Amino acid sequence: MTSARTDSPASSAPAAVITARDLTKVYGDTRAVDGISFDIAPGESFGLLGPNGAGKSTTMRMIGGVTGRTGGELTIMGLDPEKHGPEVRAHLGVVPQQDNLDEELRVRDNLLVYGRYFGLPYRYLQPKVDELLEFAQLTEKAKAKVDSLSGGMKRRLTIARALVNEPSIVMLDEPTTGLDPQARHILWDRLFRLKEQGVTLVLTTHYMDEAEQLCDRLIVVDKGRIMAEGSPATLIRQYSTREVLEVRFGTDRNAAAAQSLAGVGERIEVLPDRVLLYAADGEAALDEVTARGLRPVTSLVRRSSLEDVFLRLTGRSLIE
Ligand SMILES: Nc1ncnc2c1ncn2[C@@H]1O[C@H](COP(=O)(O)OP(=O)(O)O)[C@@H](O)[C@H]1O
Ligand SMILES: [Mg+2]
Repeated sequence: MTSARTDSPASSAPAAVITARDLTKVYGDTRAVDGISFDIAPGESFGLLGPNGAGKSTTMRMIGGVTGRTGGELTIMGLDPEKHGPEVRAHLGVVPQQDNLDEELRVRDNLLVYGRYFGLPYRYLQPKVDELLEFAQLTEKAKAKVDSLSGGMKRRLTIARALVNEPSIVMLDEPTTGLDPQARHILWDRLFRLKEQGVTLVLTTHYMDEAEQLCDRLIVVDKGRIMAEGSPATLIRQYSTREVLEVRFGTDRNAAAAQSLAGVGERIEVLPDRVLLYAADGEAALDEVTARGLRPVTSLVRRSSLEDVFLRLTGRSLIE
């Protein structure tokens, strides 16, 4: 028997947990967020990738209901955060850009006190806090004062704290900025685990490798606007070539050398310290460079990254 119900693509797509339409925030003369629209699906890991001042934190604060919007529409689980603050916050775990832990309190007490703010009973909190300490790899630090923790440990504690009320959406504003590579990898691993548990992740970053590692889909933002949207692989395919040849000719000689490189590869970007040649085959491009009689001091062939996408879209680097 065939069902009477017809399945259109729209009805089979899961409803978005967050929707933004023409979302805008103006501070005086600054259009911090300048009309952005996106949908985030349940269980998705969604990124906002952009440089400092792009409007990432402002967008996160509007979603979290701590900053009002100037215009546009915003819903979280179908609710407007400005009208339903407490209900919206019950669904969200928030990791702000700056850790705002209580430095006076011990590690475990930070989680307990935060849980009490949510009105959660001790009989729920005691086992929950132990589970979260384990998750954040902080069990041995349970009794330590927060100010004795490393940057990576503080970040993991802030994430554990955001999970106290078992949120279905976790918002992370620059989760690994300022951490050393090892601390970043530990943190990425914890975020992967959350993703595996079906938690929706919304994160901002100006690190292209972080976006490539963690995001199913992302928007590239600059000056409050969306420049592009898609999965990391799609964006790279759409806006860059498979490979990039990076050549350095020495201080002050890159621009002059670039004059002789027209037509090598599909596109050329001249940076102060190096020349980027975009080509499907980087080694073949290097052969062409040497065939033209040029001898770079160093050369490197690599795969294209989201940094290349950003450079293509804006003419600038993500990290200035
Ligand atoms: N509370 C505020 N008052 C005035 N301007 C602000 C405020 N918050 C952010 N801005 C401005 O809005 C723009 C976007 O800032 P922000 O959202 O923090 O960007 P990002 O997080 O991407 O670095 C910047 O120009 C910033 O100076
Ligand atoms: Mg920010």
